[in-house]
Amino acid sequence: MAKKVTKIGVLTSGGDSPGMNAAIRAVVRTGNYYGLEVFGIMRGYSGIIDNDIVPMHSRSVANIIQRGGTILKTARCKEFFTPEGRLKAYNNLKKLGIDGLVIIGGDGSFRGADIFSREFDIPCIGLPGTIDKDIAGTDFTIGFDTAVNTAVEAIDKIRDTADAHDRLFIIEVMGRDAGYIALHSGIATGAEHILIPERKTDIEELVASLQEKERRKKLVNMVVVAEGDEFGGANEVAKVVKERLPTTDTRVCILGHIQRGGSPTCLDRLIASRMGYAAVESLLEGRHNVMVGILNNRMHYTLLERAVKSKQKISEEWIKIVKILAS
Ligand code: F6P
Repeated sequence: MAKKVTKIGVLTSGGDSPGMNAAIRAVVRTGNYYGLEVFGIMRGYSGIIDNDIVPMHSRSVANIIQRGGTILKTARCKEFFTPEGRLKAYNNLKKLGIDGLVIIGGDGSFRGADIFSREFDIPCIGLPGTIDKDIAGTDFTIGFDTAVNTAVEAIDKIRDTADAHDRLFIIEVMGRDAGYIALHSGIATGAEHILIPERKTDIEELVASLQEKERRKKLVNMVVVAEGDEFGGANEVAKVVKERLPTTDTRVCILGHIQRGGSPTCLDRLIASRMGYAAVESLLEGRHNVMVGILNNRMHYTLLERAVKSKQKISEEWIKIVKILAS
């Protein structure tokens, strides 16, 4: 029989993502509903080590569902990846009687949670909060929809000016290890090429195809590049394109961190609410060391270890769609 949890902590860790606040709200209110004491842990794992932990109630999470960022703040905490750091964290949690944790973050955060819950008797539940969508075991991650819509809105604007000047635009979106933002925003805005870390970039093929488009007088051309593309970001791609196609009027635009901010979309608020609720239910049911996801519209639980190791794969079909539609 699993030990019954009575006091839980919630934290956000790693890169923030729109919808994290909605998830915190759901955890706090569901916890309160079931009579649990809920604590907010500031700045990710650093807050456990530094004992920066505050009690939270229904009122503490009022008026945040629509806000980007995270009221608990976030950090990437190196100390938590040392045995001494984790022991300190454990002792601080024990002192407060916290016997369950909800971690809202991405793969780095889950790695920490996985090690911690193997070492100590504190069950950890992960919620996928990352704009990158690079987590296995879920169709959605909190923040991806907002980030990709922000990228689409920006790229549509770039298209207007690209069209006015007959220019080639090379646009960089976020995604250090994952190409989902590039893939989705590129398809949705009609980009000619989408460069992602999951696939090798054939720069010769790209140049030849742009040349061919120039020959056909196709004047608006947009290339969307994920920042982690193995060839390099937009500036690297532009360098080669400018060398090889010196008469093409080429510009670079790096969208950067605007993709991480802003009010979460309805979808992100919904999945965050649903996942936050499910995280508390999971702790009460005695689950531990799992990530709560949504697969085929049902809650799905993946061992943290697996969510981290087997990242989502981008199917060949997507790549084919890009090629056909951009022709
Ligand atoms: O949140 C994930 C992510 O947005 C990556 O796509 C990006 O490379 C990284 O965070 C940037 O992190 P930072 O804000 O620490 O530079």
